[in-house]
Formats: sequence, C-alpha cells, structure tokens
Amino acid sequence: MSRAPTNEPATAIDPARRPRHVAIVMDGNGRWARARHLPRKMGHQRGRRAVRATIRAAMRLEIPILTLFAFSSENWSRPADEVDALMKLFINALEKELDELDANGVRLGFIGDRSRLDPGVQRLMAVAEERTADNRRLHLQIAVSYGGQWDILQAARRLAERHADEALDLDDPAVLADEFEKGLATAGQPAVDLFIRTGGEKRLSNFLLWQSAYAELYFTDVLWPRFDEAAFEQAVRWFSGRERRFGRAPGEDVS
Ligand code: IPE
Ligand code: IPE
Ligand code: MG
Repeated sequence: MSRAPTNEPATAIDPARRPRHVAIVMDGNGRWARARHLPRKMGHQRGRRAVRATIRAAMRLEIPILTLFAFSSENWSRPADEVDALMKLFINALEKELDELDANGVRLGFIGDRSRLDPGVQRLMAVAEERTADNRRLHLQIAVSYGGQWDILQAARRLAERHADEALDLDDPAVLADEFEKGLATAGQPAVDLFIRTGGEKRLSNFLLWQSAYAELYFTDVLWPRFDEAAFEQAVRWFSGRERRFGRAPGEDVS
C-alpha cells in the first residue's frame, strides 16, 4: 500500500470506531538502553518522551481514556536501585508535567496498590488527582504498583465487605458483575477496547485482566523509547478496522 503524500491530510478515523479506552504496556526500555550500552535507567528516562508523544496523540485522536502501565506489582522484585530510579523518575515526571497536563485539560488518575508507595509519592498523586478532577479532555490513568490479580482480589474483598450484612443475589450474573465491577480500580469506566504492548513480548503481564476481556490486542516490536505519535495512531487505525464480535456470529451488529 502506498503512503499518502505528507501534504495531504490522512483520512480521519471514524468516531464510531474510535476506542474509548486504550491501555498500554510500555515495555522495552531496558533493551533499548542495552543496545546502546547504556544503563537500564537511561532507557526508562528516554521512555518519558514516548509518554509525552502518546498523550499528545491520544488528545489529538480524541481518545477518552488512556491507561499506561508504569510499574507492575511484580516490578517490586527488580533490583532496589532500579526500583528507586523508576520511582524517582515517576515523581520527577509528575512534578514537571502536572501544570502542562492540567492546562491541556487532562484529568490524572492512578490505579494500583498505593500502600506500597512512599507517603510522599502518595501525597503527590492525591494532589494531582484533586487538581485535575474536573478536566474532561483526556482521562490519563497511570498504573503504578498495579496488578490485574490484585485489582480483582480488591474488588472481591470490597464486594464481601459491602455485603457482609445483607445477602447478595449470587444467582443473577449481571447483578453480580455490576456489583463486582464497583470494587475495581477502574469502576465506572468503559472496558479496555485496545490493548497495546510495545517491546515485542506477547503477554499481558498482569495488566487490566478483567477489563481487557474483549480488548483487541496489538503487539508491536517497537521498543517503548521509540514509540511515538505516528505509532500510536497506527495502532488506533488498526483498531478502527477490526470487526468486534463479543461472542456473536460474524456480521451481526454489536453497537
Ligand atoms: C518497561 O521496560 C518499563 C518497566 C517495566 C518499568 P523494561 O524495563 O521492562 O524493559 P525490558 O523489557 O527489560 O527491555
Ligand atoms: C510489564 O513489563 C510492566 C510494565 C511495563 C510496567 P515487564 O517487563 O515487567 O513484563 P515481563 O516481566 O516481561 O512480563
Ligand atoms: Mg520488560
């Protein structure tokens, strides 16, 4: 297929086929650094540029929710100096970017087990959430100390607590699912439509397990530090051409 000349605008993405929730496993920072004989930390640092580009593209393409996997519950088992570098980078990025994100109408949210984070980081996150709570252009959600299984167990625990005194109708799966979802970190949000993973691995690595039940999965070999606006747009365009079935027979209207 030939590419459109650069002076011609690319065809717009049909709003009806635009993902409402895009989730990204930002993987490949370490390999990017290793290929350049740099410390892994430099790869994480360079990844920030890709985060900025992705946010810009998500705003331009009018994606309502973007969830970025920044640090998993399993990443705690990396060497202490790498964990430390990642946390410092996270704090630094948050402090530096908050004004601009707020000015651009970005609502910030964080999902994950905050109890494992430094109290100072927890405060910073709360401030960012509070300050941007009324912004509506893009809901940017950062998953830190997040694991899909942790999220599911949290929801189960909350469900049990909420219904400690009054019995829940366990026989109605729709009621049960609704009640269960209220306890997830993403309560009230649409499910993940498009799940992107950079870095070439084809696995979920415990990201948004419940929420991605019917996500379209997009794997690219591009290492996260090389991901950019065009790469994000390519993934969204690919998504807009998918036929989603949700278990139905082909060709049935599922909208
Ligand atoms: C992803 O890059 C960033 C985090 C997991 C925090 P990696 O650090 O996993 O990079 P690779 O997979 O080793 O290349
Ligand atoms: C997933 O990447 C977590 C993040 C991108 C934050 P990992 O690099 O930790 O995943 P595995 O270990 O290769 O599955
Ligand atoms: Mg990795």
